[in-house]
Amino acid sequence: MTMPVRINPSILAADFAHLATELDRISSADAVHVDVMDNHFVPNLTFGIPVVERLLQVTELPLDMHLMITDVDRWAPTFAELGVFSVTFHAEATDEPVALARRLRQIGARAGIAIKPGTPVEPYLDVLAEFDQLLVMTVEPGFGGQSFMPETMSKLVAAREVASRSGLDVWLQVDGGINEQTIEVAARAGADTFVAGSSVFGADDAGAQVQLLRQRALEHTHVA
Ligand code: DX5
Ligand code: ZN
Repeated sequence: MTMPVRINPSILAADFAHLATELDRISSADAVHVDVMDNHFVPNLTFGIPVVERLLQVTELPLDMHLMITDVDRWAPTFAELGVFSVTFHAEATDEPVALARRLRQIGARAGIAIKPGTPVEPYLDVLAEFDQLLVMTVEPGFGGQSFMPETMSKLVAAREVASRSGLDVWLQVDGGINEQTIEVAARAGADTFVAGSSVFGADDAGAQVQLLRQRALEHTHVA
């Protein structure tokens, strides 16, 4: 049996003046990846609650929230209460990731934990069952259009090994520099959920690019 793969385009690379039309371009995607930045956790500032509320009204696609913010204990539950599909917060931003994940699940959102390239995965492997998703950042968070860091792949290999051995249905997500080449590397390492910003929204046919990425990922995913 082949593992399913998911392609989540990041609207950070979309035309912010025409977000609804941009979402129409990616109707074949599995979810919309929404990057929230607070200019503290990362040196960039994007959007917050009011924009997410409107996105929920104009798209059928699930929202995959990626919170690159410092005060996750305050804000992650608030995003979950809006009715988004998934809320991923950074491990570096809280001392109580398991407690926060439990709150998110209780509210009804999938709970994700993200780690920056310099953050080891080991401390989170023992508690992987507490999360629905582990996001291994493949660039330093903050900006789209950066180059994929292959040295992060060992973390995916380790997480996939634990997930398989323990029979966990935790999604392993990669984010940053994912294109039709690097997606193969990430799929081979064990990722099953792929965020792509510039490679999707920068394509003439964003829908076709989603399909191409999905096909490449499937071709390089291990048979489970
Ligand atoms: C970066 C964001 C990413 C970004 C990816 O901090 O978390 O989601 O939008 O963009 P690309 O695919 O262009 O690297
Ligand atoms: Zn992201």
